[in-house]
Amino acid sequence: TPRVFSGIKPSGGLQLGNYLGAIKRFVGMQGEMETIYCVVDLHAITVWQDPQELARGTREVAAGYLAAGLDPTKSILFNQSQVAAHAELGWIFNCVARMGWMNRMTQFKDKAGKNAENVSLGLYAYPSLMAADILLYHATHVPVGEDQKQHVELTRDIAAKFNHDYKTDFFPLTEPVIGGPAARIMNLRDGTKKMSKSGESDMERINMLDDADTIAKKFKKAKSDPEPLPENVEGLKDRPEARNLVDIYAALNDQTPEQVIAEFGGAGWGKFKPALADMAVAKLAPISGEMKRLMDDPAEIDRILGEGAAKAREIAEPILKKTYDIVGMLRS
Ligand code: TYM
Repeated sequence: TPRVFSGIKPSGGLQLGNYLGAIKRFVGMQGEMETIYCVVDLHAITVWQDPQELARGTREVAAGYLAAGLDPTKSILFNQSQVAAHAELGWIFNCVARMGWMNRMTQFKDKAGKNAENVSLGLYAYPSLMAADILLYHATHVPVGEDQKQHVELTRDIAAKFNHDYKTDFFPLTEPVIGGPAARIMNLRDGTKKMSKSGESDMERINMLDDADTIAKKFKKAKSDPEPLPENVEGLKDRPEARNLVDIYAALNDQTPEQVIAEFGGAGWGKFKPALADMAVAKLAPISGEMKRLMDDPAEIDRILGEGAAKAREIAEPILKKTYDIVGMLRS
């Protein structure tokens, strides 16, 4: 049976790339398939997290899930550390995955930079815990942004090696679900870098909790180029900032870039940016308003995550148990 799993790290708050590349698509899959969405707090601590900020960020991601339309009666919503099986299967996969595979992970190389001697061991093992997240539910579909594609491919490699070594077909080979204009939302000040929560300047990104004035200001000040919008999408080639703003418009407004260009082709930035800002505020303000309302009642968020964790355990525990059996570990 098709089953969807995905996760978001609760570090630094949600930004527009998380919403368009992940959450909005999670909502679209709800009801179509069994859907499980996690707040991956174990992954967050691969780099230092202030404890209070980690707790707040976990509730922020959960509030983002709910405010965007995920429904705890239709999707399982929980935070990773409440389901111990993630860490347990993660350990087994640490013993399946090869050092050479980890060494090729571009996200690790980017994050470790020249400082690889002084990053946590967890950061290195990060993709093997991610494989555990996915395979613990025998998930078949993993909606993610482009930046996570390599990790989902590694998940397939881990599943294949486990199956091969233990002569089983227990773990499925998972498909990343990536695509559309939101696969890679770029930084508003530099169209060659992705939008992220860790960029230096707040003007680079739209945070899901930004107020309307801030959102409008960030789009109006977004980097563009001297040309008006092209008459067709091919004209966006080699214009990363223009392409990104068109992609954002399309993704937020449930359109294709072609449709956006059909409406705005030939328009100058003085026309397009205010239109983008107005549309974005109209789409995002209800979500951020609802997030703030939900975050005023942390106990209710915690309750929802706890109930989700109980449902997640029901699926995960039999799969973990079977894995221990396959590996030859006694359970008595
Ligand atoms: P994270 O927390 O960095 O990002 C969460 C999701 O948002 C997507 N995303 C973007 N999409 C488009 N444009 C952007 N600029 C952008 N920035 C972020 C990410 O691709 C991701 O889908 N390793 C994962 C979390 C994770 C996970 C998993 C995902 C842990 N276990 C199992 C799927 C399945 C991560 O760090 O995402």
